[in-house]
Amino acid sequence: MFLLLVADLFKTRIAAEKTGITQEIQHSLEGVIASVTDVGIALGTLMAAARSSGLGIVPIGAVRREPQALIDLFGLPEDTFPIAGVCIGYVDRPAIQKSRLPIKSFRHEEHYHAEDLRPAIDAYDLTWLNTGRLLLEPMAHPGPRTLRVHTAECTSRM
Ligand SMILES: Cc1cc2nc3c(=O)[nH]c(=O)nc-3n(C[C@H](O)[C@H](O)[C@H](O)COP(=O)(O)O)c2cc1C
Repeated sequence: MFLLLVADLFKTRIAAEKTGITQEIQHSLEGVIASVTDVGIALGTLMAAARSSGLGIVPIGAVRREPQALIDLFGLPEDTFPIAGVCIGYVDRPAIQKSRLPIKSFRHEEHYHAEDLRPAIDAYDLTWLNTGRLLLEPMAHPGPRTLRVHTAECTSRM
């Protein structure tokens, strides 16, 4: 099954119109942040629910590569935008889990510890280089596959 998660400020506009209010939030960054946060909550909850039921999941950010095609395909109205998809199904071959960034790279106590980031990313790059996954994925960039290379690949796809 493939589910498409859509930021939806059309629905709220209709609800506002019922009470005679003209919705304006769709014109602001706050509207984007609020609706995309809602999608993130839904995506995380869906993935946790699927995994806890023994199903496999693959989130699909690539739906944003061709948003207009999806808007047309699903007949999405104005003030909506496709944010992410998620495939849910029975696992054929279990995936090899990617190495994880050290906790210090995302958990900051009391204040943001910028000085911890470089060592954390260096440590991640070492585990990433040692993972068997390197052998399974074609390398888009020559040389060692580090977080820098991975990030470059991700951003170049946007
Ligand atoms: C927000 C998000 C978007 C993703 N988008 C895609 C995608 O477009 N295509 C894809 O094949 N995998 C996508 N993935 C899946 C990842 O590439 C990876 O398979 C997944 O995070 C599980 O890897 P791990 O458990 O080894 O870390 C996405 C994952 C996340 C969290």
